[in-house]
Amino acid sequence: MLQDINKVGVVGAGAMGFGIAINFALWGYPTTITDINDKALHRSMRNIESALNIFVDEGLIIRKKADEVNHRITFTTDLSEMAANSDFITEAITERPEDKRELFNKLDNLCPPHTIIASNTSFQVLSDFASDVKRQRKIIITHYFIPPHIVPGVEVAKGPGTSDETFNITCELMKKIRKVPIRIAKELPGNLMNRIQNAMRREAYLLWAAGYATAEDIEMGIRTTFGFRMANEGPMMHYDLSGVWKYSQDIRDHYAEKYILGLGQSEISAEIAEKIKRRMAEGKPWIIDPNNYDEAKEKMDRAYIKCLKCRFPLKIDS
Ligand SMILES: NC(=O)c1ccc[n+]([C@@H]2O[C@H](COP(=O)([O-])OP(=O)(O)OC[C@H]3O[C@@H](n4cnc5c(N)ncnc54)[C@H](O)[C@@H]3O)[C@@H](O)[C@H]2O)c1
Repeated sequence: MLQDINKVGVVGAGAMGFGIAINFALWGYPTTITDINDKALHRSMRNIESALNIFVDEGLIIRKKADEVNHRITFTTDLSEMAANSDFITEAITERPEDKRELFNKLDNLCPPHTIIASNTSFQVLSDFASDVKRQRKIIITHYFIPPHIVPGVEVAKGPGTSDETFNITCELMKKIRKVPIRIAKELPGNLMNRIQNAMRREAYLLWAAGYATAEDIEMGIRTTFGFRMANEGPMMHYDLSGVWKYSQDIRDHYAEKYILGLGQSEISAEIAEKIKRRMAEGKPWIIDPNNYDEAKEKMDRAYIKCLKCRFPLKIDS
């Protein structure tokens, strides 16, 4: 039952872990973050402080609340201590199947039988790394979107053994911490949203590699056209609002065949694929100056919070 979840743990104090911890601590859960790397834990402490300062600055919470949240989050490199004391654990470690497999098996042995263990994996399914875990009924995916302490939606995905009870408790828990659970009833590599997001990303990189437009123009085009609308409509709602469903049958047939199924399915030649791979291998951003990464992230977090306040009026100071 949801009431049995009183303390939570987060494993992995990287880009996602600190934000995931903030969500739980904001809504009253004593939260422990653990990492194998002491430096990552220290960075996480600073990230949490800075994220809470931005929340205060933007009027989402009052200073007293920020201090309470900060005190509610503890840090340790001792996995067994965190595991023994957590009713719900979110794994957010490096996306390497063998590391996740080892961790899930360890957690399975260290946690009390009632503990639910969730993974924030982006690309894998539970069968890829959690098939040896004994508590199959109590493992699940909760997939957050960066920055996880701000973006409302979280995909909640079942594995082959996940019980309905675990699925429902996890969705209720997400609602309790004011997230919007997106329910995925069976295993799907990439979950729902990364598949959709990557369809666009693949096409964007491919059009860049084929020389149709600069990275800046592709980026600006998406943000100022359909991306601009996307806080309010997805492809289903867009179909409804654009009135395409009112077109005559022959135009709707054409729309489905040529526009939806026919366009934007460019073939990736070996040369184009190589160019995209080489670009990714460079390990540098497209647009932002890597020396100003933190400033760029803060600017974006503040912009997201402004949208959050319009769409999900949220003042977390009770
Ligand atoms: N960054 C994103 O945009 C994003 C979005 C959604 C999901 N994810 C997923 O979340 C997970 C974490 O991603 P991230 O971007 O925070 O990675 P990251 O590299 O920033 O952080 C990973 C952290 O895990 C720690 N770690 C590695 N192995 C560990 C272990 N065995 N025990 C404890 N700590 C360990 C590392 O020291 C590091 O601090 C990945 O599965 C990733 O695919 C990332």
